[in-house]
Amino acid sequence: MTPVALVPRINIQAFFESPQTVEAIQTAFADRRMARAHGTTMAGGIPAAIRLFQTQSTPNLLLVESTGPREALLANLASLAEVCQPDTKVVVIGHVNDVILYRDLIRQGVSEYIVAPVQPLQIVETIAALYRSEKAAPIGRVIAFMGAKGGCGSSTICHNCAWDLARNAGVETTIIDLDLAFGTAALDFNLDASGGIMEAIAQPERVDSLLLDRLLVRLGDKLNLLGGPGGVDKDFTIEAHAVETILTAMRVSVPTIVVDLPNLWAPWVRFTLLHADQIVLTAEPELASLRNAKALVDMLKVARPNDPPPTLVLNQVGVPKRPEIAAADFRKAIGTEVAVTIPFDPASFGAALNNGRMVLDMTPRSKAAEAMRKLARDLAGDKPGTSVVASGQSILKKILGRGKM
Ligand SMILES: Nc1ncnc2c1ncn2[C@@H]1O[C@H](COP(=O)(O)OP(=O)(O)OP(=O)(O)O)[C@@H](O)[C@H]1O
Ligand SMILES: [Mg+2]
Repeated sequence: MTPVALVPRINIQAFFESPQTVEAIQTAFADRRMARAHGTTMAGGIPAAIRLFQTQSTPNLLLVESTGPREALLANLASLAEVCQPDTKVVVIGHVNDVILYRDLIRQGVSEYIVAPVQPLQIVETIAALYRSEKAAPIGRVIAFMGAKGGCGSSTICHNCAWDLARNAGVETTIIDLDLAFGTAALDFNLDASGGIMEAIAQPERVDSLLLDRLLVRLGDKLNLLGGPGGVDKDFTIEAHAVETILTAMRVSVPTIVVDLPNLWAPWVRFTLLHADQIVLTAEPELASLRNAKALVDMLKVARPNDPPPTLVLNQVGVPKRPEIAAADFRKAIGTEVAVTIPFDPASFGAALNNGRMVLDMTPRSKAAEAMRKLARDLAGDKPGTSVVASGQSILKKILGRGKM
């Protein structure tokens, strides 16, 4: 599993020379992993940076492109160093693929040298790596589950997958049930309490991993739940900012965070989807699901251009006498493959519900369990596209042949 590298709240100024590079930089700046950073781009490469910083202070990070030869690059960087504040990091995008140059640049104080053409995700990863402390705990992965319409089985699938990730993949997993009024996570696991998420939502400024730890309810050896009390006796509003704080704090200590989203549309739901590392979208094989799934997938493709589309699950397939839309038609209409098809199986799902256990636990040999297990295994493994570095590489790593970059 590739941990997601998030870029902190830093100022970045980029000085480009080629149209390909500025395009990659702008796409990188719009990436969800850079949402907290502030980036600007200017034409003119290193000479433009030198001119500007004679009168202005330098940002946290300077990203400069040089299309020129080695000598010009070294001379320009020497002049840049004279106007650069000592705590500003400099990343160079160059067009010369030479390990000696790389070493010279690092000796001159350059933080990283990458050879054009650069990919947006490579820029994100390079910047994130500069700010990732060696001692920092691995950053958790957020998997958001949402139904294309109410009642299609998204929560049940979410809980079964979380259970499998904790139990069989052995990954420390926390379920966040964000269906505060009607959430079923506690019910599904046969619990009275479902955790104190209201406390975190009401006072996001107090949230840290210690507080969250206290609010969790234990569901099993490696499985925890953060949910609400359920019920409609209290009104509440959820701010995107509160969700962000909770997820950020949780990422510090929990490797897999599984978010159970209700079927509604609000800024905080949109925020959660846009910032999740993976999205599982569950639909039933009928028209309303198809329309809503298409709308969500289309929106996500535009808003998350550097991420794979959601994992599409078709659930409750084969309800007797119901005319259904085939998986192939879903794929055609939405432009995304149906990853998993789960049959309608009221006996298994009903029995699991009545016993407060998972379908995967009670009827592990059923076709539905098999399908959900496949989904959980897919989520546990590396998926194409989740790797933060795509292609193009740091020259040193390339020459030394290290990593699979
Ligand atoms: N494949 C299936 N076969 C039979 N019943 C199913 C199947 N999948 C889910 N169910 C049942 O459908 C009901 C609704 O499931 P669930 O609460 O998970 O849906 P949801 O999409 O989360 O709904 P909501 O919109 O309320 O959040 C539950 O009783 C569940 O046990
Ligand atoms: Mg639900």
